Amino acid sequence: MSIGKNIPHDSSTGHVSGTSVFIDDRLMQHGEVLVLPVGVPAAAGTLKAIHYEKALKAPGVLAAFTAKDLHHNTWGTIVVEQPILVESKIGYYEEPAMILVGTNYDQLLQARQLITFDIEKADAVLTIDAGIEKKDFMYHAGPMKCGDVDAAMASAPHRLSGIFECGGQEHFYLESQACIAYPLEDGQIEVHSSSQHPTETQHLVAEALGLSLHQVVCVVKRMGGGFGGKESQAAPFAAMAALVAQKMNRPARLILSKDDDMAMTGKRHPFKNFWDVAFDDQGMILGLKCHLYADGGAYADLSSSILDRALFHIDGAYYLPNAFIEGHVVRTNMYSNTAFRGFGGPQGTMTIESIIEEMAAYLKIDALLIRERNCYQEHTRNTTHYGQKLENTPLTDLFTRLRKDCEYDKRRLAIDEFNKNSQGKIRGLSVSATKFGIAFTARFLNQGNASVNVHKDGTVQVSTGATEMGQGVNTKIQQIVAHCFGIPAEQVRVMATSTEKNHNTSPTAASSGADINGAAALKAAMGIRKRLAWVFQQVLAKAPMDDIAECPAFDEAALKFEEFEFKDSTVTHLPTKTQLSWVDLLLKAYFNRVSLGEYAHFKTEGLGYSKATGKGTPFKYFTNGVAATEVEIDTNTGEYKMLRTDILMDLGRPLNPGIDRGQVTGAFVQGMGWVTSEKLYHNKDGRLLSHSPTTYKIPNVQDTPRVFNVEFIENNGNTANIHGSKAVGEPPFLLGISAWTAIKDALRYKAQGKIPQIISPATPEVVLMELSRYDRA
Ligand code: MTE
Ligand code: HPA
Ligand code: MOS
Repeated sequence: MSIGKNIPHDSSTGHVSGTSVFIDDRLMQHGEVLVLPVGVPAAAGTLKAIHYEKALKAPGVLAAFTAKDLHHNTWGTIVVEQPILVESKIGYYEEPAMILVGTNYDQLLQARQLITFDIEKADAVLTIDAGIEKKDFMYHAGPMKCGDVDAAMASAPHRLSGIFECGGQEHFYLESQACIAYPLEDGQIEVHSSSQHPTETQHLVAEALGLSLHQVVCVVKRMGGGFGGKESQAAPFAAMAALVAQKMNRPARLILSKDDDMAMTGKRHPFKNFWDVAFDDQGMILGLKCHLYADGGAYADLSSSILDRALFHIDGAYYLPNAFIEGHVVRTNMYSNTAFRGFGGPQGTMTIESIIEEMAAYLKIDALLIRERNCYQEHTRNTTHYGQKLENTPLTDLFTRLRKDCEYDKRRLAIDEFNKNSQGKIRGLSVSATKFGIAFTARFLNQGNASVNVHKDGTVQVSTGATEMGQGVNTKIQQIVAHCFGIPAEQVRVMATSTEKNHNTSPTAASSGADINGAAALKAAMGIRKRLAWVFQQVLAKAPMDDIAECPAFDEAALKFEEFEFKDSTVTHLPTKTQLSWVDLLLKAYFNRVSLGEYAHFKTEGLGYSKATGKGTPFKYFTNGVAATEVEIDTNTGEYKMLRTDILMDLGRPLNPGIDRGQVTGAFVQGMGWVTSEKLYHNKDGRLLSHSPTTYKIPNVQDTPRVFNVEFIENNGNTANIHGSKAVGEPPFLLGISAWTAIKDALRYKAQGKIPQIISPATPEVVLMELSRYDRA
């Protein structure tokens, strides 16, 4: 049985041996051309003209296209307002305004240097503050409210207020945005895209080119990472490649360089959140008011949903008896910010984790006490600020067990001692939590479809809308289907995702890829299994199944489904112990003209949230976890290292614990990078300076915690999801926040009674500046 087993990732051998095929590994076809987008050298203003005549004459250049060559130039996942290529109004620096086509990439890069622009520049809005001042808001979220926050605030023993600020984050997938478009007969286009959302890519290519949807197929074999960055933003690049394929009737390949990708595409949303908290002497939170501002960048993209999710996660793991939470998306002249692992959840949860550190410093108690006291309980204090009652959310257990397992109390004393005696070094220790809501908050996206084809040798091909980006969704679906049929996982293959097999799909996002597509695949496989059981039942009943008579039509009511066990490639009729091999039964079915293929549609039940009232059930269930991180800071330089991290997660009954362990460690490190070293630098014109790995610092192996323990609790109670599992992709990203709260905790030892206040990322510069604030006291 393959559920719950550590079968290897379906691309593990391919990835390490270099045989996995990514977009740019596809062999060049005869006549294929290369496509290079050209960005504008200004963040705001009006584009009057592009002078590309010289570039067109440069060696190796074949053609150039601009906005006017597109049938339809405006796109947007939620709000249709963003140009594929700038027509006149400029949104941000390096926004693509035209494309060059040629046969040699180096020559294209040289030709790009020859292009000049006439731009009537305007003042660029480059910060959240500037956007707030201009009141240029794209979206207002909330309010979500509960209790009577004003009354709670008025009568509370203590109040603190402040501003929490966090920066953006580059996705840093190893494969940049990439697409090849092939022109087919009758004007059809087939695009192979590195996209989390093949359906949106198909749709945008069709619209941009003036084709109907049935003229376009989008195929996604895999991505070299997506992390949210290819949920919406793969599509416009596919449209550019497709435009070239259509105009020139040649295959067209668009592969962004790392630098172009970093400069042209959106990132995680920076947030600036204004908060006001009321609490008692014990640190019990009595009320929270928070106004969140997200930097949406130039266009709407997914910003509204991201801000909604930030509001949904402002509670972190803690019960808010009285709250008033709202937010705005600010429009700026930055690249259009987009989905990134956690999708606003990290920016919400980090706010309360930061507030709790400040409450602890103010009350002069350990922040873990405040966390434990405010943590959601099982039977009381278990309703969120948006009215969803928590079920199967064992947060108190997680805190209790982690505290014991990581020897928190002993280590706290040791750290107190260390900090008293050491010169030039301080240590800190902090626990933070994740209670991540699983489901797309836009209800219609919680649907998927799958088709399962069983072949006569007993092997199976499965196709769903899920896209593989390294997270292991293919392997999980493989396990689900193999388990259903009782055959080895190696006999099941999950095929490339294609809109011609699975249409109207949702992006592989919101951590729900395996939840939704796995459930659809199971439903389809079950359909086949039922018919196979039916055939077996007829064999046993000695129904005439010879040359003349066939198996009677499937009759679900007459089927005694539970009597048939599918296990170890054998099907057993349990009451009589009669057995047929898996393949023999398939052949019986085939010769009786019983279908060995099935298509199924799945939708997540029980979801409903009203934006009008700010109340409802946006999530199917929650994935939970806690992490304790210990940091050591060099007080002379502000540099630090993570000494130890202990993670404890609730993943229900994991479908594949090994893959999930990889997701947990990877997400933690990515989260840690966001809050520590990954800082985006821009010049005063809004041009991204940190547009390559030489200037943008993602964690490397030495930055990972020296001691790194990852454990899962046993939780057999999640009936809300397939085989009792819980989604894993994004939730542990939020645990990286513990690296930042640990830094904040360490600073308390030097703060001389002040409340440490740092922004995120807490780069060594930020830490050093904060330390110098204490010295001036
Ligand atoms: N893991 C890898 N290796 N690469 C990725 O791009 N994306 C993350 C997460 N884990 C990602 C990843 C994000 S943002 C999401 S939403 C989920 O995977 C999506 O896949 P799932 O729903 O199948 O978990
Ligand atoms: N999460 C992730 N991606 C999404 C969502 C969501 O809630 N909604 C739309 N895209
Ligand atoms: Mo993930 S940010 O939902 O693609």
